[in-house]
Amino acid sequence: MQLNEPMIRIFRIKRFRSIGLSHFRTLACSEYEILGHNRKQHSTKADIKTDIKIENTIDWALLSRHHQVSFDNRKVYVPWTEGVTSSFHHIWLRDHCQCESCFHPITKQRLLNTFQIPETLRPENVVANPTEVKVVWNDGHLSAYPLDWLHFHSYQPVLEKMGVFPRTLWTGDEIAANPPKVSYDDVMDPNNHGGAVADWTRKIKTYGFCFIDRVPTTPADTEALINRLSFPRNTHYGGFWDFTSNLAKADTAYTDLALPLHTDGTYFTDPPGLQLLHCLNHQGTGGDSILADGFKAARVLLEESPNHYKTLSRVRIPSHAAGNEDVCITTSLARAVLNHDDSTGTLFQVRWNNDDRSTIDRWSDPDISVPEFYAAIRAWAEILTRPEIVYRFKLIPGQPVIFDNWRVLHGRTAFTGQRRLCGAYINMDDFESRFRLSNYGRSRVLMEL
Ligand SMILES: [Fe+2]
Ligand SMILES: [Zn+2]
Repeated sequence: MQLNEPMIRIFRIKRFRSIGLSHFRTLACSEYEILGHNRKQHSTKADIKTDIKIENTIDWALLSRHHQVSFDNRKVYVPWTEGVTSSFHHIWLRDHCQCESCFHPITKQRLLNTFQIPETLRPENVVANPTEVKVVWNDGHLSAYPLDWLHFHSYQPVLEKMGVFPRTLWTGDEIAANPPKVSYDDVMDPNNHGGAVADWTRKIKTYGFCFIDRVPTTPADTEALINRLSFPRNTHYGGFWDFTSNLAKADTAYTDLALPLHTDGTYFTDPPGLQLLHCLNHQGTGGDSILADGFKAARVLLEESPNHYKTLSRVRIPSHAAGNEDVCITTSLARAVLNHDDSTGTLFQVRWNNDDRSTIDRWSDPDISVPEFYAAIRAWAEILTRPEIVYRFKLIPGQPVIFDNWRVLHGRTAFTGQRRLCGAYINMDDFESRFRLSNYGRSRVLMEL
């Protein structure tokens, strides 16, 4: 390693930066280690921020000034200024050629026939300039790879690792003083060039939910608000909902009963990503809304009962939606309550609805796993009833809430009278696309493909 060379700054990690006023302290770690994953456990306390910004400056990847690009029979070698060298297999480079005849410049799809790349492929020559590496292949093709693209996608070694967006975990006690909000006028302003939408998506990513202030109390305006983020997801409940407690659909959501904390769509292989709820009017009593940060609750469970955490990460729970005569939805692939990224061990999804749980009739060892499963869900359910965990508030006309249904659990207390709500689901992948494009810009997001 050349000690006089500056360390390259890795923008993929670096671009997340939080600035703002601190109000209260909470756990801000974003990663969980399911037992068996050899990852460092974060337990740092950090402040909840009121203003989260993403630094969009890019520190371009720089080639070493002391070593040249080179190649041999198997790979091309690209030495970087930070003192490491990336190696790329010829087949991989040729397969990822970025030229217009190999990769459609508009549709961003591969045009190259991967299977016609000859096994004897190797470079005739490899040269570099300050922005790209050019390869002349022995089949006559010329490829050019931008340096930042090569650095970003370097796999041997991996140089840049997509960080989990820094979530701020919260308890009800903590978040109640300063819940995340945006204003309807800001996010709907067509002249805002997406800035307010970017802010809105960042708040949802950070806290798992966000209020929208001063929304006109009509279904049409609420639907327009949802469409500003993405299109509604259609399900057996419809796309955009406008409902009261009349059992129009055979689900307890359409009653005036209390609903304990849960996530929606545990019976879907891909549960709804986001849910927006707007109370258009309520003449009656009760009907307080409750939210809880499922990732925070999981963190508490992990710290208090690691074995229960492991159980809830392993036992797959079948679920169903079968109230309507013409509907009987079950998960194609039953999943656990706590779901982790296979490669990193990071918790990415909480699925929990005890009312929709189907019959579990496959156990690895029933004498061990059945009692442990019930002990684990009892411990989990107990955490979700702790007053400090739960954020309780009144959903009022003009102030809908949108929440991440893969992280934040929701429920309500029983109520009397007529209560009219409207809202919709949004798919997680569509929301992620909106978040990334509005915060990083299209060219940046395309580079990551
Ligand atoms: Fe629900
Ligand atoms: Zn090409």
